[in-house]
Amino acid sequence: MSAHTKFAPTSKTAQWFESRLPILGVAHEFLTFPTPRNLNYFWTFGGILAVMLVMQIVTGIILAMHYVPDTKLAFESVQAIRRDVNFGWLLQSMHANGATMFFIAVYVHMFRGLYFGSYKQPREVLWILGVIILLLMMATAFMGYVLPYGQMSGWGATVITNFFTAIPVVGADALVWLRGGYTIDQATLNRFFSLHFLMPFMIFGVVFLHIWALHVVGNNNPTGISVKTNKDTVPFHPYMTIKDSVSLVAFAIFFAMFIFYMPDFFGDADNYVEFNSLKTPAHIKPEWYFLPFYAILRAIPFTLFGLPATLYGLIAMFGSIAILAFLPWLDTSKIRSTSYRPAYKLFFGLFVIACLILGYCGSQPTDKAVLQIGGNVVLDMTGLAQIFTAYYFAHFLVVLPLLGLFEKPLKLPASIADSVLIKGGHGMPYGAAAEPQTKG
Ligand code: HEM
Repeated sequence: MSAHTKFAPTSKTAQWFESRLPILGVAHEFLTFPTPRNLNYFWTFGGILAVMLVMQIVTGIILAMHYVPDTKLAFESVQAIRRDVNFGWLLQSMHANGATMFFIAVYVHMFRGLYFGSYKQPREVLWILGVIILLLMMATAFMGYVLPYGQMSGWGATVITNFFTAIPVVGADALVWLRGGYTIDQATLNRFFSLHFLMPFMIFGVVFLHIWALHVVGNNNPTGISVKTNKDTVPFHPYMTIKDSVSLVAFAIFFAMFIFYMPDFFGDADNYVEFNSLKTPAHIKPEWYFLPFYAILRAIPFTLFGLPATLYGLIAMFGSIAILAFLPWLDTSKIRSTSYRPAYKLFFGLFVIACLILGYCGSQPTDKAVLQIGGNVVLDMTGLAQIFTAYYFAHFLVVLPLLGLFEKPLKLPASIADSVLIKGGHGMPYGAAAEPQTKG
């Protein structure tokens, strides 16, 4: 991607410095980075995520100055932060609700990518780096949730780490290795605290690569058409800086609503009770952002080759994330944007519904009845989760590979500029074959 203008420092000092460390050139490249002129507000979530990441790191570092990673003091230290530390209530609320906001933003960012085909050639590496970020985010959030050492922290960690015993041969050792002992205890808290502090910096590193990759291949856009001429783009500054700022302020207002008025909205009542390894809560469930994956983990019913169902559940859960990395090759359509794929649009809608229903299943007890006929339970939560787990995988392994071969896309505008500058440039007659946007 070439910038709109080339950076040439005028002052002697800047020239001297630039010839030794071309940092001003890099900043200039960012400001003049050509962005497609038709980007909508869904393209502002990457910027929101970058700000959220920095905010989580800053609030986390200050919280770590007051938090005590000791099983006897951890719960109390979080209460002390909320009650006694100056602005501790604000920091703790920003950090805990920040995790939720981070996941809201990342799911919007990902579904934007899924809808507009941002994972397709030439953005495969950019996408895979995103999947790695998602995995790191999940691990970080899981370990962070254990730190306040409430009932759900301890029991959530117990249930999830227990699943690893299903791994053949090394399962029992893996469990002890993860926990640092036979139960969730001091060693677990120490390692989770240490890793929870480290991992955001690893995320930061991968985000750096993610944005670097973005600057090599350039942004996708709502039409999915590649940039052809300078007319298709505008410089990042001031166009995107303004748009990103508007979005960031709106997002901050939404976020502030929870920080100030509903700080415990996303918290589980059980987690305001200190962890007691002898008292199991009635219903153990993870935070909302893990629920669809939790439903998949619990959905697998069969034991095969003498291996337990929980092992297949574990494989399905990790598989449901890993499969995203293969998406650029599973989707055979030559058209990027779903806006021009009427048939796929229906399946995309179904996929979103499947994810939401899986999330609901994850939040409910497995044996809760969904459908009863004459007093008999015909479908329970496990059954519902199985149906939508099947669709989740079929979407990637059947729909995406086959649909691209058969569907008839809509006609695309001639260029990005045409799609916004010519009246009706966006409204395409149905039926006319579209030109391929990706090679092979
Ligand atoms: C900490 C988390 C993340 C940060 C800070 C981040 C940051 C960014 C930024 C700044 C952009 C450019 C602006 C935009 O398109 O919104 C971007 C683009 C992109 N990101 Fe992320 N990202 C994150 C996570 C992810 C994840 C989890 C995925 C997917 C699994 C992903 C996939 C993409 C893709 C495909 C693009 C190119 C979009 C396009 O031009 O159409 N990102 N990201």
